[in-house]
Amino acid sequence: MFGIGDKKISTESYKGVRDFYPEDQAIQNYIFNIMRSVAESWGYVEYNASVLEPLSLYKSKSSEEIVSEQIYSFTDRGDREVALRPEMTPTLARMIAGRIQELPAPIRWYSIPNLFRYEKPQRGRLREHWQLNMDIFGVSDFLAEVEIVSVAFNIMKKFGAKDQDFQIKINSRDFLDDVFKKINIDEGQRQFVYRLLDKKEKMSDDSFRHSLITLIGEKRAEELLENLYFGEGLFTMMNESLSAKRLNHTIQMLRKNGVSNLVFAPTLTRGFDYYTGTVFEVFDTNKENPRSLFGGGRYDNLVSAFTNQSVPALGFGMGDVTVRDFLETHKLLPKINSTTKLYICVAPEVNMEEVYKVAGTLREGGINVAVDISGKKLSDQLKSLDKRNISYVSTIGEEELKNNKFTIRNTETREEKSGGIEEITSFLKNI
Ligand code: HAM
Repeated sequence: MFGIGDKKISTESYKGVRDFYPEDQAIQNYIFNIMRSVAESWGYVEYNASVLEPLSLYKSKSSEEIVSEQIYSFTDRGDREVALRPEMTPTLARMIAGRIQELPAPIRWYSIPNLFRYEKPQRGRLREHWQLNMDIFGVSDFLAEVEIVSVAFNIMKKFGAKDQDFQIKINSRDFLDDVFKKINIDEGQRQFVYRLLDKKEKMSDDSFRHSLITLIGEKRAEELLENLYFGEGLFTMMNESLSAKRLNHTIQMLRKNGVSNLVFAPTLTRGFDYYTGTVFEVFDTNKENPRSLFGGGRYDNLVSAFTNQSVPALGFGMGDVTVRDFLETHKLLPKINSTTKLYICVAPEVNMEEVYKVAGTLREGGINVAVDISGKKLSDQLKSLDKRNISYVSTIGEEELKNNKFTIRNTETREEKSGGIEEITSFLKNI
């Protein structure tokens, strides 16, 4: 016995993770299918890896918050420090470095891994989530930015979102670096300014200003705030800087390509230390759920942690939790029926061998069929359909078997269709 005495084990899952009952799994599959189909339509190929990684992979290569507060780690029986992956990017950089000689650039890869972070569970944040990762390697030109942001936009549209339902914020760390240089914020301080800017949206204006002054002094703090205030006007002011031209070109080309909800966000930095250039983040514009949905950026130095070769890289991670919240808030989730197309109820005294033959023929024809073997009364078998979400039902008795004529009924519209087994198969196949 597993229980202790008569005390039953809780049916709750571990804190912050989800059980996927079939109706949840169906939604998850719907979300993954859209992610997969868009990724593949842009020529990205799928990869995967183990959830286990050496802990050292994340030390100094990920975000400080993740490593010091959120990583799940343990010591294995061979005394190795092991982590459950909190993100996919370090694993991906390792894999790309391992094959860099053989892979023709541009390398376009995607994956939908489950990731683990010890976070305080709340709306949009759990301890296990799945994340579509789409990354492109080997392209330093801004066309990589245009592609990656366009794909992100494209996925949102494939989910049924309208342009005004979300906003894409974009910035660039090398551009910010140039602004920092202009107002003499030295290199040692920049990382801290990035981290502070990353938290800006969660702070009051006063406490942000106060922290900034503590970091870089009042004069430079005022100057920085003044600069950021100019928005896209900053590109003109920084006219001689390459990074300003590049970011401006990226934004203009994306807008020309139809990404109408793109805005320049000079304080966007994103939390990871490995980002080197463009960063972007997608936000829900709905007031009930005004959260960040997903984001990414350019990380040109991460692969060179594993190999001597320098490999430019850019990508994003889109989580299933925030996407599902978004689809629910905007009522974009379609009704999802069971993958079982037809449920066969059996009349009393029927020859089960014959029923199985019929079901077998339907399956051969590509139809997903379940047969009721509960031994319950026919009325109870039919009643169970209320909770099964299956589109079609058929009752089989002696009569149907003798005449090889079956009737299927749509469980929602109650429309019926009768015919021989071939007719029924081709009807079900074509809906
Ligand atoms: P990230 O911003 O940490 O980036 O995560 C990307 C997305 O994953 C988030 O915007 C959110 O949708 C989802 N996510 C993250 N943590 C959680 C959580 N605890 N619960 C639910 N959803 C979550 C990265 O992970 C980068 N490695 C992405 C990347 C790929 N950058 C370049 N390539």
